[in-house]
Amino acid sequence: MKNLEVNLCGVKLDNPVVPASGTFGFGLEMADVYDINVLGAISIKGTTRDPRFGNPTPRIAECEAGMINSVGLQNPGVDAVIAEEIPELRKVYRKPIIANVSGFGIDEYVECCSKMDKVDDVDIIEVNVSCPNVHNGGMAFGTSCEAAAEVTREVKAVTHKPVFVKLSPNVTDIVSIARAVEDAGADGITLINTLLGMRIDTARRRPVIANKMGGFSGRAVFPVALRMVYQVANACQVPVMGCGGVATASDVIEMMMAGATAVQVGAENLRNPFACKEIIEALPAEMERLGIDSLSDIIGIVK
Ligand code: SIN
Repeated sequence: MKNLEVNLCGVKLDNPVVPASGTFGFGLEMADVYDINVLGAISIKGTTRDPRFGNPTPRIAECEAGMINSVGLQNPGVDAVIAEEIPELRKVYRKPIIANVSGFGIDEYVECCSKMDKVDDVDIIEVNVSCPNVHNGGMAFGTSCEAAAEVTREVKAVTHKPVFVKLSPNVTDIVSIARAVEDAGADGITLINTLLGMRIDTARRRPVIANKMGGFSGRAVFPVALRMVYQVANACQVPVMGCGGVATASDVIEMMMAGATAVQVGAENLRNPFACKEIIEALPAEMERLGIDSLSDIIGIVK
């Protein structure tokens, strides 16, 4: 019997596989597709203080081995997420819930986190300082050590729940940002969010995406994500949730060997809605093939 359990800041996950925020809605939609209780946890759709319609369309550009999105944090706002989405999800889902929070100013991050702190059904708060699709906010907080640390410090002051800070790969030195949020009190780090990218419609002679640029994700980014997980896990003491281009059980094991305690699956959910379920089902055989009895034994095993 293989042991797939991992422990994320005291939150027990039956397995390390977590759908990444923005690729699984608020979970409920997927409950009709398969039993979502097989998941390790769910990171629900990014939530802001106020409801947001999101960016103009087109918001998606297909790419070789990936895609670009510029959704722009479309969501019904924190009060509706707490009053409606999380209770509806809880009716069909018993496992841990990760609330992903974004903001356009420190006060917004603080307000959302303080509201999420009071929700018993939220196990972990994931603070997104890395959305590349909004002006003044999102990634602006995750590309400066000082700003990332300030958001972390301020949200930590209003919550007792574990706080993971979701970092942007669009920086020169990921380790300095990771160390800054760890020093500011982050309980964990999620990385990576999407890489800023662009496509041009050559027939129309204009960008494919209305907002011109967007976040590139999918299988092509896996080696970049793995490299950053490895660097951060070796530089920081707090647990890391690896994310970026994960599509197979083998990818999950590779991310864990690089230092991830849990592994988020993002764009692959959009290509194959059964991706997380299939990865979880494939893990025991992949562990057997590699002589692994317990997944927690391999976290950061590669130095
Ligand atoms: C979006 O809503 O634009 C994507 C969220 C993100 O990349 O953080």
